Amino acid sequence: MVKIILLYCVLFLLFAASYQASNVVYNVVKLGAKPDGKVDSTEAFTKAWTLACSSTWPAMVYVPQGSFLIKPVVFGGPCKNKILFSIDGTIVAPSNYWVFGNSGFWILFYKVTGVTVYGGTIDAKGGSFWACRNAGNNCPPGSRSLSFVASSNIMVSGLTSINSQMFHISIDHCHNITLQNMKISAPSWSPNTDGIHMQSSTGISITNSMIQTGDDCISIGPGSKNLRIHRIACGPGHGISIGSLALHQNEGGVEDVKVTSVVFMGTQNGVRIKSWGRPSTGSSNPCKGLKLEDIKLTYYKKSAAATSFCKNANGSNKGLVIPPSCL
Ligand SMILES: *[C@@H]1O[C@H](CO)[C@@H](O)[C@H](O)[C@H]1NC(C)=O
Ligand SMILES: *[C@@H]1O[C@H](CO)[C@@H](O)[C@H](O)[C@H]1NC(C)=O
Repeated sequence: MVKIILLYCVLFLLFAASYQASNVVYNVVKLGAKPDGKVDSTEAFTKAWTLACSSTWPAMVYVPQGSFLIKPVVFGGPCKNKILFSIDGTIVAPSNYWVFGNSGFWILFYKVTGVTVYGGTIDAKGGSFWACRNAGNNCPPGSRSLSFVASSNIMVSGLTSINSQMFHISIDHCHNITLQNMKISAPSWSPNTDGIHMQSSTGISITNSMIQTGDDCISIGPGSKNLRIHRIACGPGHGISIGSLALHQNEGGVEDVKVTSVVFMGTQNGVRIKSWGRPSTGSSNPCKGLKLEDIKLTYYKKSAAATSFCKNANGSNKGLVIPPSCL
């Protein structure tokens, strides 16, 4: 019996040693990435991802300290096991926004399961792109900084995202995603720099995060269900928005959204729901089951007061609700 336990311990030590020996840790610098923020390191990142994705053991892609220039990149799956994408450094985008092309993505995780993105900063350097848009020039469509498409069991923890061209984080056709301890920031005047956008996705949790943007802190599109938004500091920005919904026929609805312990500072709205009044729905089919509880929103100037507005909405109130509920 003792022998078996010993053997087990030796095997375990061997396993731990082999993990330490980094045959499952893919350091992008060892694969050719340059931490100077100038040399294009996209190929090294792609290599690290491909190796991690084909590993039968859980693998790590490691981005050490420094600044890494990355062009639009797709980290595609399915992969053979879980992947931890651990970032100590900063990933920066090319300053020439034409390099992004028309895909709408910068860093895209596609068809992956069981990926954790931990730590790090991503800087899309959106300034010149916003200037182009604000001047009404001929600009490319712009890119979302970090996107997850057709993916599940994802965790993003401790990531900082700054100055995205368009949305900072985008979630589409995904299940079971946790975003926590995030810092998202772009100036209040930057157009369409939503913090987190989701659509056609279920089981999304966003907690303990600070979001400062020029558009919605969190925007929730059609087909989103089971969303938990908890302990968020939002502002500047437009607030938390659901919709616009029902623009298209046969569009998925939005159900089971809980927003709790959120502080809005200098935002246009708290929470808003926008939907098109289709003749097929109109007032015969209002938003139902809305619950407001313990809300206090005030206007920054004494000259006016915050207001609430409802049309085709039905629900209930509990506790303190300031401004008075329109439900
Ligand atoms: C959801 O994803 C997390 C990883 O973020 C994973 O640990 C958990 O098991 C997943 N839950 C389900 C029900 O698959
Ligand atoms: C809201 O619900 C009440 C009953 O709870 C009902 O009388 C009223 O017609 C509903 N309003 C709408 C717009 O559906």
